[in-house]
Amino acid sequence: MGHLSSICWILVLILIPAGSQAAVHQYTGDLFRASGDAYLYQGGREGLFHSSYNALLKWNSLGKGLNNGKAYIKFQHLVFTRPDYLAAEHSPQDSDTGLVEALIFELGDRDRVGYETPQGRALCCSEDLVQATGCEPGHVIVKPHVESEGYVDVGWPQVIDFRFQGNDTTLIANPAIDVPITKTGMYYLWYVICDRSLVGVNVTGMTVWKNPFGYLPGMMAPFETFYGFMALGYLALGAVWFMQYLRFWKDILALQNCITAVIALCMLEMATWYFDFVNFNTYGVRPYATTVWAVTLGSVRKTISRMLILVVSMGYGVVRPTLGGITSKVLMLGAAYFVATCSLDVMQNVGTIDDLTSSARIFLVLPVAVLDAIFILWIFTSLSKTLAQLQNRRQGAKLDLYRKFTNALAVSVLISIAWIAYEMWFKVTDQLNERWQSDWILQAFWQVLNGGILAVICYLWAPTHNATRFAYGDDSVDDMDEEEVALTKVTQAQSKDKEAATDSKAAAGKPSKSAVKTDVFSLEDDDVEEGKTE
Ligand SMILES: *[C@@H]1O[C@H](CO)[C@@H](O)[C@H](O)[C@H]1NC(C)=O
Ligand SMILES: *[C@@H]1O[C@H](CO)[C@@H](O)[C@H](O)[C@H]1NC(C)=O
Repeated sequence: MGHLSSICWILVLILIPAGSQAAVHQYTGDLFRASGDAYLYQGGREGLFHSSYNALLKWNSLGKGLNNGKAYIKFQHLVFTRPDYLAAEHSPQDSDTGLVEALIFELGDRDRVGYETPQGRALCCSEDLVQATGCEPGHVIVKPHVESEGYVDVGWPQVIDFRFQGNDTTLIANPAIDVPITKTGMYYLWYVICDRSLVGVNVTGMTVWKNPFGYLPGMMAPFETFYGFMALGYLALGAVWFMQYLRFWKDILALQNCITAVIALCMLEMATWYFDFVNFNTYGVRPYATTVWAVTLGSVRKTISRMLILVVSMGYGVVRPTLGGITSKVLMLGAAYFVATCSLDVMQNVGTIDDLTSSARIFLVLPVAVLDAIFILWIFTSLSKTLAQLQNRRQGAKLDLYRKFTNALAVSVLISIAWIAYEMWFKVTDQLNERWQSDWILQAFWQVLNGGILAVICYLWAPTHNATRFAYGDDSVDDMDEEEVALTKVTQAQSKDKEAATDSKAAAGKPSKSAVKTDVFSLEDDDVEEGKTE
């Protein structure tokens, strides 16, 4: 795992754009870039919920509490710097020697920003557009509308002007301006310079975006509660499982230890996510370490559970004692899957909250999808072989177990396919994130499905006093190895309690081949059906 997590770290370093992490959007001397008829710097994009009515009434007298109902975008320590030679063109006495505008608009208001001209969309007002739009030359074109709610008389989209004075090279923005949010929506903040001679301006400082309940961006807000509940859910599953485990600890199979490990991983992962979001909500920053830890745990969990399902499907410990040559193939597939899923998850969760470029995403989604398909194909071919083998040997209890398992997996694959289709439809029809408030469900669903599959596996392979009815037993035990010896030990200790275990050799001390052979639930025994009905 040491190697795996260092791979994950390297991916983090490669994939994280040197930039900001949501809620607190940090600007570190970023340059304005030419875009159409203006210089533009995109200062943030986030879903925000509207402030509470109470907070709007008592805006300035309200405490600093996190959950104070205030939603705002706050400018802090904002400094624009222009090159010396541009400043030197002006005399110290001149005022307004360069204009930078902060433009804040809600996604639904995007048509109110700029103006459609035959040459394309103009963001800045020029002399020939004055007549058509009534705009002020040199400024951003907006068509504000006045909020009808009454208590807020603010025109959106909002434009805040910052002006260079005299021959100053720096423009220090008015300390701490709040822009209260009065309407729930997806907000964009752009810094715009319409003056084409102001080349090479950069910006430092930050903006803080706050929701009524804390710093979590709107799109992620539901995750705090969601992961809290998921952690509790796994805790409950873990508690039930652990109780069974303790009750029947003498009869635990290797496979059940794997399941215990997966449950523990899931619990840890959910708890880490929960604390990651609580922390993010409280401080507005998301330490990379926590997120990377959660993502790594998640990738390990996904990889191990896929490998576990695959190994179970192959009949490990049930129809065959070891995996033999297949083990290295399973491990290789697992490693490849880990790298692919880790890079995708890092990209999705550790990168900036602003939209990913979709091409980069496809590039990372594809390998995961392909590897998932390989897993599914391999799992189902193995399952059908195992089922056929069990059928040939008339092992009723095991066959029944594997039928249920196959059905559960098939249902979950069908649900997954349906959900992927829904997800694609959702993304395609919502490219601008207008439905950002329900976006979290897309991701949350997978967690719930994983939890469901794990619960089914726990149910089917629950530790019981006759657990060995699922254990491997066979006549051809020539190629027995350590793993099998471990298994037979369990089998053996087990068979003591069974009335059917008439053969005294089974209860004898050392693990021996004969102990396996004489187990009641071994292959050739007709009593198998009894075990099932217990
Ligand atoms: C911003 O621009 C100024 C003038 O061009 C330059 O001196 C300064 O180093 C830049 N700041 C950063 C952080 O790049
Ligand atoms: C601005 O003008 C003053 C007075 O002429 C001069 O001393 C100063 O160096 C100038 N600053 C810049 C950045 O050119």
